Amino acid sequence: MSFFRRRTMNSIIVMGRKTYESLYRKLTGRHIVILTRNPDTFYLDNENLMGDTVVVSNDLQLGMGKILDCLIDHPEVDRERAYIVGGEQIYTLTANLVAGAYVSHIEVHVEGDAHYKLPEHLTVATNHPTELGNEEDPFRSYTFYETEIAG
Ligand SMILES: NC(=O)c1ccc[n+]([C@@H]2O[C@H](COP(=O)([O-])OP(=O)(O)OC[C@H]3O[C@@H](n4cnc5c(N)ncnc54)[C@H](OP(=O)(O)O)[C@@H]3O)[C@@H](O)[C@H]2O)c1
Repeated sequence: MSFFRRRTMNSIIVMGRKTYESLYRKLTGRHIVILTRNPDTFYLDNENLMGDTVVVSNDLQLGMGKILDCLIDHPEVDRERAYIVGGEQIYTLTANLVAGAYVSHIEVHVEGDAHYKLPEHLTVATNHPTELGNEEDPFRSYTFYETEIAG
């Protein structure tokens, strides 16, 4: 998780309601847009927010606008990009909007409850070397894919 932490620190991250509910610890330094079709009935436990800022929306653009408003007095936050962090439904929803994808390869076999195949317009970025695992994270490597659509 160190790569995820480094990459998303002081950033806006977007996730589906199910992924938010699967978080088991607070993502400090992260600002979260939760997507749900039922924002009015979604219970947000404000005592135990899983990010420094959390907004709930049924629309990505509205959610981004809402969180940027909340972060107006936070110059440390990257306002230029947001990271889509899953799950499968939200990766699918945003597949044609993203400029690239960081994919971590983990040497372990798991069944999983959601599966996502990277769309074909995302190809391995040539100027972005794969990062290999380190002592802290020996079984992982990370590859950056970029879109041919954005050029
Ligand atoms: N390995 C990874 O990289 C990774 C990353 C993230 C998550 N995960 C795992 O993936 C699983 C969850 O994935 P998932 O695909 O089942 O769920 P998800 O994408 O996290 O969330 C799905 C929910 O998002 C909301 N949603 C979907 N489309 C929407 C739209 N067009 N507009 C507004 N809201 C929308 C709906 O919420 P409502 O039902 O409330 O309307 C839907 O039930 C979890 O097990 C999680 O741990 C893995």
